[in-house]
Amino acid sequence: MINYTEKIPNNVDLGRDRVLQRALEHWQPAFLGWWFDMGPTESRNYDVYLRTAISVEPDGWAQFDYVKMPEYRWGIFLQPRDEKRQVNFGTHKGQPAWQDVPGEYRSTLRRIIVTQGDTEPASVEQQKMLGLSCPSLYDLRNIFQVNVEEGRHLWAMVYLLHRYFGRDGREEAEALLARRSGDTDNPRILGAFNEPTPDWLAFYMFTFFTDRDGKFQLCALAESGFDPLSRTCRFMLTEEAHHMFVGETGVSRIIQRTCEVMKENKVEDPSDVRALGVIDLQTIQKYLNFHCSVTLDLYGSDVSSNAANYFTSGLKGRFRETKLEDDHVLIDSHYAVSEVVGEKIVTKDVPALTALNERLRDDYIDEIADGVSRWQRVIDQAGISFRLTLPHKGFHRAIGNFAGHFISPEGEVLTEEAWKKHEFDWLPSPKDYEYVQSLMSGRVAEPGKFANWIAPPLRGINNNPLDFEYVRFN
Ligand SMILES: [Fe+2]
Ligand SMILES: [Fe+2]
Repeated sequence: MINYTEKIPNNVDLGRDRVLQRALEHWQPAFLGWWFDMGPTESRNYDVYLRTAISVEPDGWAQFDYVKMPEYRWGIFLQPRDEKRQVNFGTHKGQPAWQDVPGEYRSTLRRIIVTQGDTEPASVEQQKMLGLSCPSLYDLRNIFQVNVEEGRHLWAMVYLLHRYFGRDGREEAEALLARRSGDTDNPRILGAFNEPTPDWLAFYMFTFFTDRDGKFQLCALAESGFDPLSRTCRFMLTEEAHHMFVGETGVSRIIQRTCEVMKENKVEDPSDVRALGVIDLQTIQKYLNFHCSVTLDLYGSDVSSNAANYFTSGLKGRFRETKLEDDHVLIDSHYAVSEVVGEKIVTKDVPALTALNERLRDDYIDEIADGVSRWQRVIDQAGISFRLTLPHKGFHRAIGNFAGHFISPEGEVLTEEAWKKHEFDWLPSPKDYEYVQSLMSGRVAEPGKFANWIAPPLRGINNNPLDFEYVRFN
């Protein structure tokens, strides 16, 4: 028998939990099978300079060393327990936080955990091929780091399923390894996780926009009255920060490189910019529009009785719930949501409990708006007059009040015909994707070298120089 405590760093007393060990004996080999099938292509023998969490202490959660990814020690970590923690919102507010699953919420809670868990392997699948076209060893290492940590996030959710949901939980844990991103018969649960991530600009946009949705969902679940879920999500958030860093700096470096080339060569026209082998700002804006809009859909319907139930039951809170100053019950509060009436977008107040998806989406929009203005600064500093903007939240939406409407990025309500005429002014066209991919036909694998279309980062990983050998191919 495998000694799981040694193989799986954990702070859940795995060595003494027979039930959990038995569940993992089946699941762990199946997980590795999934990794070999769906993890990064051709990466099995690479030595990758990775960060591994071996404990939740400040000096334990970021241990750097060369690791072969199939041998990565996917651990199970929960933030340490606060004995005094309570349910902080909803009808159970003030009760001690639950250490076990409340019977009446069992299936709801399982659904929440499965939906979160499903996104983790999905993104690994979406990014499977990108290692073959990396712009540098630094970036290759970063995508692998994101991939193994998404693998660990899957472990985190599977731990909860195995530990607290018995046989149903074990079945759900297996199903998490069976669904496939983009598969017609057995797709991943949420739309954005079935979209392809065909190139590195899409990858950085994904980690900026979609991993940040992950952050907001985790923040809302970190408020949960079900304490093991809260503690699990709190630890996952420490890792999520790096994913968003990879996305924000990745896009920023692409913008920077484009601006440098535009200035050096005194060109502005997108076709002249492309002729110089960098990505024109217009195309970057289209990618931004796409990833922003599909990610906004992940928050669900603007008005949702499910969202109200999750909150009232104490299962899923708001962003920074305990920092908010209100009654945390929300029976008498209202919140503004938008809808399309005729040719106008109007807002109306609805019961705040039903608008919690919209509220989380709005909190998210505040944060991505800050990120976009940091990208804008790069353009401004280069003295180039181009404005990068967030599209209107109704643009290109498939879920909620805007679904079925044709909204421009500026927020005008259009006819389908008028919208379609501009579709590829606003979203990447097949030709745009083709161009971006033409820049990424092979990988840049020499230490310290970067592809022409991206600027080097400011510094390396863990204080190493930029020409450090972040990946050894063997
Ligand atoms: Fe994740
Ligand atoms: Fe992530």
